[in-house]
Amino acid sequence: MAIRTIREIGDPVLNKVAKEVTEITPRIRDLIDDMVETMYEANGVGLAAPQVGILKRIVVIDVTGEDLLVLINPRIVETSGEQTGNEGCLSVPGKTGIVTRPNYVKVVAQNEDMETIELEGTELLARAFCHEIEHLDGHLYVEKVEGDLMNTADLEDDEDEE
Ligand code: NI
Repeated sequence: MAIRTIREIGDPVLNKVAKEVTEITPRIRDLIDDMVETMYEANGVGLAAPQVGILKRIVVIDVTGEDLLVLINPRIVETSGEQTGNEGCLSVPGKTGIVTRPNYVKVVAQNEDMETIELEGTELLARAFCHEIEHLDGHLYVEKVEGDLMNTADLEDDEDEE
């Protein structure tokens, strides 16, 4: 496993559409391992492959620190409700902004054995599903921020970054 460099806003790879994963190769397994290590090392709650410069539809999420999710080719199939709160991104270091997201999200994806899985999340997990899946289509949360992007240093509490 290895820590990969996290690409930052302004890097064109973050605005490209990632490609479907059709088979799990040793290279893909290495990528997933590295994404997990890179996310934890950066104290993030989620990371999408384009953030380490790879245009594949893979995301890793862990919103509790003990519940790792690896999603391949994820897509949102159902949403409901609404939540408004602070969001951050490892590709936009030191910043945070207010974004409104659904409060409930259902996702269909493949796991590391290419089996189809269905996952549901509310609150922070629902937010992470939306945020990470948007990375796969070349979008960053800053496009959706209500009001100004703020410096995390100006807030009292540290925010989780995705
Ligand atoms: Ni992000």
